[in-house]
Amino acid sequence: NLLDVVIDNDVDLDGFGACEGTLACSTCHLVFDKADYDRLPSEPCDEELDMLDLAYGITDTSRLGCQVI
Ligand code: FES
Repeated sequence: NLLDVVIDNDVDLDGFGACEGTLACSTCHLVFDKADYDRLPSEPCDEELDMLDLAYGITDTSRLGCQVI
């Protein structure tokens, strides 16, 4: 998933993936372009939406990176 991509590429996002993809943080919050968002293969589940509500600066095209397969 996308979190693995970030980790594999040593992308330096401060605090990204603090809970290691267990939907217990919102540090992997990503904001997509509308076009990219529409191309994502999966919809956010309820747990992801709940956690996104806690994320800073949430937008209509926000996702949690660890949940984007
Ligand atoms: Fe914590 Fe994604 S890494 S919710």
